Amino acid sequence: MSRFVAAIYDRFMEDAEKACLGEWRRALLADLAGDVLEIGAGTGANLPHYPAGLRSLTLTEPDAHMRRRLTEASARMPDRPVTVLDAPATALPVDAASLDVVVGTLVLCTVPDPQAVLAEVVRVLRPGGRFVYLEHVAAWDNPGRLRWQRVLEPAWRVVADGCHLTRATGDLIREAGLLVEAETRESMRKALPWIRPSVRGVARRLLTPAAN
Ligand SMILES: C[S@@+](CC[C@H](N)C(=O)[O-])C[C@H]1O[C@@H](n2cnc3c(N)ncnc32)[C@H](O)[C@@H]1O
Repeated sequence: MSRFVAAIYDRFMEDAEKACLGEWRRALLADLAGDVLEIGAGTGANLPHYPAGLRSLTLTEPDAHMRRRLTEASARMPDRPVTVLDAPATALPVDAASLDVVVGTLVLCTVPDPQAVLAEVVRVLRPGGRFVYLEHVAAWDNPGRLRWQRVLEPAWRVVADGCHLTRATGDLIREAGLLVEAETRESMRKALPWIRPSVRGVARRLLTPAAN
């Protein structure tokens, strides 16, 4: 992320956070437990929503500008012990099968290789562990909007530091071998129209590898 994008990110998302995102984050994270790691944690928008009493909470963020804001946000919440790490989501510095939950919100749109990220998520989750996600995606129900997303995507990727508009992230999660237990598709109200289609849910690492 450029210093500029990091600086305006919270302001840019503010209306959508108030209209829906904040509530979606709260509901997704409210019942987490155990050892939890977030990928691409950005400025720390999820931080206020993590429940107390987690065994560990690790926030990873490879971008220096975002990470500085994340560290500042976590310092403002001293009652919530957090470890902030510099790591891309494709190379998490944790052992295989060591986490109960991985959280990823608005990050699989931006990573260069979402399949590689999801393979890393599967690697670090314990069998039965959960991947909790919230992503803006390709318009699944609106061909007109999907056409616009395709037209805008090249320019948007430049403006928004690599963000893709047409990823079918729900499908990628299933193709990674995770079992989707709950998923909601909904319009992200008050966001820019081309990032409104969104998907959020919980997928579980199977006890044995998927047979596909
Ligand atoms: C749109 S922001 C979302 C921030 C935050 N997760 C949220 O929900 O507001 C995308 C984030 O993904 C991070 N990112 C980009 N490439 C990444 C990678 N390869 N691995 C992990 N995070 C990455 C960016 O630095 C940025 O913080």
